[in-house]
Amino acid sequence: MKKKRIVVLTGAGISAESGLQTFRDADGLWEGHNVYDVATPEAWHRDPVMVQEFYNMRRRSVLAANPNEAHKALVQLEDKYEVFIVTQNIDDLHERAGSGQVIHLHGIITKSQSERYPHLTYDIDGPDLKMGELCEKGHQLRPHVVWFGEPVPMIEKAVEICQEADILIIIGTSLQVYPAAGLIDTVPPTAEIYLVDPKTTVHHFNKINVVQEKAVLGVPRLVRELVERTDT
Ligand code: APR
Repeated sequence: MKKKRIVVLTGAGISAESGLQTFRDADGLWEGHNVYDVATPEAWHRDPVMVQEFYNMRRRSVLAANPNEAHKALVQLEDKYEVFIVTQNIDDLHERAGSGQVIHLHGIITKSQSERYPHLTYDIDGPDLKMGELCEKGHQLRPHVVWFGEPVPMIEKAVEICQEADILIIIGTSLQVYPAAGLIDTVPPTAEIYLVDPKTTVHHFNKINVVQEKAVLGVPRLVRELVERTDT
């Protein structure tokens, strides 16, 4: 029998217990910076050295972090369901936990891209990307992340995947940033929707099953329930 499809939309909250800070929980600051001062094309043009150093620091934190029980539990769904992870996170913790199909809506910090030709991307060897490191066409490399105001090329694929979802699980996102937040409106009306977040204030016309817990607690339990359901 064809496996049911689960789409998991994750945000910064799933990696919080791995030691990576969320964006909107600490007085609007992200590692001491206003996100708009470091995560925009304008910031890069104004002060590329500062932006590069900021992301080098972030990359260092990501490389030092490990997947937690929530990332790991999601992998277990793959025995019983067709699973797609659609993440807003730029860390690689889903991949390191072992998830097979991960779509990064906002890019991934372990890669660089040409500042002129965004489709030219490269793996970064180690934590630091340096000024003077160039793409094959001779342009400066920057982090392979989507900044505010930039297109989100992976959104179309994410929408296609959501349109066939039987279950949508949303974990650790404030659902304030579009187009990612709009994915909730692209699943079929029959899809079940779960939201795992200890502090959510989401209001939505769709019926959402809210699990008001940290991801490391709520996700393994939800996964267990969904797996057991297929045994009956
Ligand atoms: N477990 C689950 N959820 C948690 C936890 C936890 N341990 N700790 C915090 N959260 C929740 C918060 O309650 C909040 O709802 O995670 C959410 C984090 O929200 P944001 O900081 O806004 O992060 P996110 O939604 O991923 O941001 C979206 O904004 O800055 C941009 O591009 C960046 O991808 C990012 C996008």
